[in-house]
Amino acid sequence: MQPRRQHVLLLWLLFYSSMAEALEPISTTIAVGMAAALTGILARYQNIFYYFHECCRPEWISFNITRLKTDLDNKLFGQHIASRIILKAVNGFMSNPNPKKPLVLSLHGWTGTGKNFVSQLIAESVYAEGMHSRFVHVFTSTLHFPHAEHMATYKSQLQQWVRGNVTNCERSMFIFDEMDKMHPGLIDSIKPYLDYYDKLDGVSYRKSIFIFLSNAGGDGIIQTALEFWKAGKNREEIELKDLETTLSLSVFNNNKSGFFHTSLIDKNLVDFFVPFLPLEYQHVVQCAMAEMKARSLEPNPDVADQVARDLVYFPKSERVFSVKGCKTIESKLDFYT
Ligand SMILES: Nc1ncnc2c1ncn2[C@@H]1O[C@H](COP(=O)(O)OP(=O)(O)OP(=O)(O)O)[C@@H](O)[C@H]1O
Ligand SMILES: [Mg+2]
Repeated sequence: MQPRRQHVLLLWLLFYSSMAEALEPISTTIAVGMAAALTGILARYQNIFYYFHECCRPEWISFNITRLKTDLDNKLFGQHIASRIILKAVNGFMSNPNPKKPLVLSLHGWTGTGKNFVSQLIAESVYAEGMHSRFVHVFTSTLHFPHAEHMATYKSQLQQWVRGNVTNCERSMFIFDEMDKMHPGLIDSIKPYLDYYDKLDGVSYRKSIFIFLSNAGGDGIIQTALEFWKAGKNREEIELKDLETTLSLSVFNNNKSGFFHTSLIDKNLVDFFVPFLPLEYQHVVQCAMAEMKARSLEPNPDVADQVARDLVYFPKSERVFSVKGCKTIESKLDFYT
C-alpha cells in the first residue's frame, strides 16, 4: 500500500469524523481512534508488502562486502588483478554515502575469462535478488542495438531508459555487454549521466553503477601475460601498471571497442579499466571442479583433468591459454559425468 493512499484514507476518515463532530462527540473520538488504528495496520501491511515485493530499499539493496570478498576469493579463478580492483572499487563506492559520480567500471579481456561472471558476483553482493533484481539492467549490443542506421533512435531510447530506471531507483545497475560490438558514439549519449553532476533534470545518477564488458584490449593483455610466461615469471607477478597503458590505448584507439574516441575516456569518466587475464590449464580444471560442485556432484579431479585436456589452447606451439577460457566447461561436463 502506497503512503499516499494511506494519507488519503486518513484524511477521509478525519473529514468524516469532523462532520460527525457536530452531532456526537463520542462517535468522533471513536472515528479518530479507528483512523489511527487503521493507519497502524496499513503501515504494517506496507512493511509486509516491502518484505515480499522487491523495492528500492535497504531491505533489498545493501552491499555485503564479506560476500563479495568470499566469492571473488573462492569462485573467481586466475584473476588476481581484476579481483583486487573490483573489491576495492565497489567497496569504496558503496560505503561512500555521498559519491560525486556513479561508479563506472570497464572490464576487458579474452573470451570466457569471467567478465559476465564478475558482474553477476557484484550484483549478488548488492541486490538480494542478484541478476534477477528489477534494478539490474543488462544491454547487449547485438540484441538491443543491432542496426547502425537506427542509431539516433537507440540513443534517445537508451537515455530515456537509463533516466527512467534511475528515477525509479537511484541504486540501479547497468551492464553493457559486448561493448566492442556497440556503435561508437552510442555510449556518448549517456555520458552526462556518468559525469560529476549533482542532478540532471532533477535526477541524481551518483549512486548507480555502470559496467561495460568487452573483448577490446584482450590482445594486449594476452601479449603481456605471454611475455611473463616466457620469462618464467609467476602469473601473479603481473601488475595493473603492466597492462594499464596498453589497455587504455587499445580501447580508445580501437574503432571496434565501442569507446572509440568517446568523450567518456577523454573526460576520465571510466573509474577503472579492469583487465582479465587469459586462463590457463589449471584454471580450467578449477572451473570444472566448481561446476561439478554446483551440480551437487562429488568433484572428481580425473574428470576435471579430462575436460581440461580436451580444450584447445594457444599459442599452438606452447599451448598456454585456453581459447575459450572456461566458457564451454558447462556443456563439456555433460559428456563426462
Ligand atoms: N575466471 C573465472 N573463474 C571462474 N569461473 C569462470 C571464470 N571465467 C569464466 N568462468 C566460467 O565460465 C562461464 C563463462 O564466463 P563469462 O561469461 O564470464 O565469460 P566472459 O569473460 O564474459 O566471455 P565473453 O567475452 O565471451 O563474453 C562463467 O559463467 C563461469 O562459470
Ligand atoms: Mg561475456
